Amino acid sequence: MSYFQWKPEMSVGLTRLDDDHKSLIAIINRLAGSLGPDDGNSGVQQALTALLRYTEHHFGREEAVLRAVNYTALTQHRDEHKRFIRDLQELRADFATMEDTEQKQKLLDFLKDWLTHHILIEDMAYKDRVSGDKTAAKAAEKFSGADIWTTRLAG
Ligand SMILES: [Fe+2]
Ligand SMILES: [Fe+2]
Repeated sequence: MSYFQWKPEMSVGLTRLDDDHKSLIAIINRLAGSLGPDDGNSGVQQALTALLRYTEHHFGREEAVLRAVNYTALTQHRDEHKRFIRDLQELRADFATMEDTEQKQKLLDFLKDWLTHHILIEDMAYKDRVSGDKTAAKAAEKFSGADIWTTRLAG
């Protein structure tokens, strides 16, 4: 059984965003699989970089969807996303000097807890707004990775 599993109650009402969450969970599981005492740090660094990139991508898509449906709590939601990206960048930098397995396990648990909480509480709050909404689905499909750069520049 994998370390972290997506469950149906985590569905936020839009397949494209659920798929993103499943991909993030898959990367965290990859990370969990590369934390053995004999594993070097490079696999973990790669997984953390993948997690950071995919998280930016997912947040960009999610924010595009929420903007398209004029979600009222978008600013607060974006702030949560920004804070997590900053934490993730710091963790990735700290990891280079992290030695023992216990610390690595803490890092893993933090990522799992953060994502679980964020999906079940923060993301779940927009479920009714995007479920079955054509504008939301269209915005999710239309989003391209390159859009991240323009949204980031917009602050
Ligand atoms: Fe979110
Ligand atoms: Fe999300």
